[in-house]
Amino acid sequence: MKKLVLSFVLIAFLAGTNFAQNKKIPLIGAQAPSFTAETTNGTVTFPDDYQGKWKILFSHPQDFTPVCSSEISELADMQREFKSLNTQIAIISTDDVTQHKSWKKWLEELDYKGHGTHKIDFPFIDDHTRAVSIQYGMLHEPVSTNKDVRGVFIIDTNNIVRCINFYPMQIGRNMQEIERILVALQTADKEAVCTPANWKEGDDVIVPHYPYTDQQLASNPEIKNDYYNVGGYIWFKKEKK
Ligand code: BEZ
Repeated sequence: MKKLVLSFVLIAFLAGTNFAQNKKIPLIGAQAPSFTAETTNGTVTFPDDYQGKWKILFSHPQDFTPVCSSEISELADMQREFKSLNTQIAIISTDDVTQHKSWKKWLEELDYKGHGTHKIDFPFIDDHTRAVSIQYGMLHEPVSTNKDVRGVFIIDTNNIVRCINFYPMQIGRNMQEIERILVALQTADKEAVCTPANWKEGDDVIVPHYPYTDQQLASNPEIKNDYYNVGGYIWFKKEKK
């Protein structure tokens, strides 16, 4: 009997590991997988509950750990900025909602690096079953089968995955960089442009094509001042007029 139970446990473990290995990370351009889960803000169906908004799904290894606490504190400090960018943040780990609620309370009382205290608006998603972590490829099996690595999924208003970043457990993320990517994506969509290396909001952007014909230029010479060229084929559009 003992042998039988042990065999079942082993099979269940191997099946779980194999399932985690076989699940693919949702790629750029894919529809963001939908799930319903308990959160510190009640039951949430993600991303469907946030129609019309950009979404950032942010995984972390474990509640009440130092690097994760620093990250969520910095996110809380920037939550108004993300809101003004029409963006909903949702954070997730394999902890349950009871643990999340107690960590959230602790974080709300923490004055991290003199930023002051913040009431946290965004939900902490309970993924103690690992179902969502598996669906989003957040469990990187060589590192852990039960704790998420640090994942960032930027998802647009049509629920399409637009950017994926994964970071190791030991390294805290740069929230300004996450905001920079979000603003770059929103700018690229709005203006049908690309952004060059090290771009920041307000910098000139790249147009993915020769910006005008000789004819257009002849009839409307001032458009020449809107664009400039580097090296022959890198066409920039001036953002600061
Ligand atoms: C942390 O957040 O401090 C942490 C979590 C998991 C592994 C290493 C560090």
